[in-house]
Amino acid sequence: MKLDENQKASQIQFDRQAALYGRTHILSDTSDLQRALQNSALPKYSPALDVATGAGHTAVFLAECGLDVTAVDLAPAMLKQTERLASEHGVKIHTMQSAAESLPGANGAFGLVTCRVAAHHFSDVPAFLREAHRVLRPGGRLLIIDGAAPDNAPVAEEWIHRVEKLRDPSHVRFLTPARWLQLTGEAGFEPLLCECTPFKQPDVEWYFRTAATSPDNRTQALDLIENAPDEARHTFRLGQEDGRIVWWWPRISLLAQRPGADA
Ligand SMILES: C[S@@+](CC[C@H](N)C(=O)[O-])C[C@H]1O[C@@H](n2cnc3c(N)ncnc32)[C@H](O)[C@@H]1O
Repeated sequence: MKLDENQKASQIQFDRQAALYGRTHILSDTSDLQRALQNSALPKYSPALDVATGAGHTAVFLAECGLDVTAVDLAPAMLKQTERLASEHGVKIHTMQSAAESLPGANGAFGLVTCRVAAHHFSDVPAFLREAHRVLRPGGRLLIIDGAAPDNAPVAEEWIHRVEKLRDPSHVRFLTPARWLQLTGEAGFEPLLCECTPFKQPDVEWYFRTAATSPDNRTQALDLIENAPDEARHTFRLGQEDGRIVWWWPRISLLAQRPGADA
């Protein structure tokens, strides 16, 4: 598989950090998936493709809902984590190494494509959306969940971009809800639900530890956090709890449909 520089950086980063993404990671809380998919009669959308599956929390959730799931990721160590989690949960998941920008599967092969907390690493989000559209059958659904920058808050958007890049240089960019709606529309999707909700992150020490941020980058990121402009402070609800810095991040859930007869 030929990877661009950005994909290589993500693969190295997540292969190195895979051990930290297991059962106890905050991503194991799948209430965001439950909320976004509560009105989708899920087994009807089988088979499903989970893109950038990480340690497989979304893939396992879908398999436990009765879908036949294929999970893809760039990082082989993450796919191993997915296989481990699936076996702990007693479900079967097909895993495959693949980039989001070039998905496996014939045209119309899937009823559901999911991508949770990963698209901000992608080199080419429009290419991913074109591929998601291609592999979905008419009436099939796309669910994207990701950290987001709020609409109309450019100072906060630039601030979180700089903090994230320092924390993990494989980060590309958080998109705003308006940009997600534009890009999914251009790829041929119709929106069914688009909501942005605040999500409480663990403290910043956890934030740096899970990404193995270098000491120098950590110092620079902490400086940005301590001197956050008002718009960022307000948007990310920066505060202190028991002497620890805590924050809330906007998280977008966008459910969209490939037009056509209901899958
Ligand atoms: C935070 S984890 C994903 C979490 C997971 N989706 C869940 O619900 O628990 C981010 C994952 O994105 C993967 N990734 C980053 N860029 C990618 C790309 N271009 N194509 C495929 N996977 C990618 C990384 O290897 C990593 O495993």
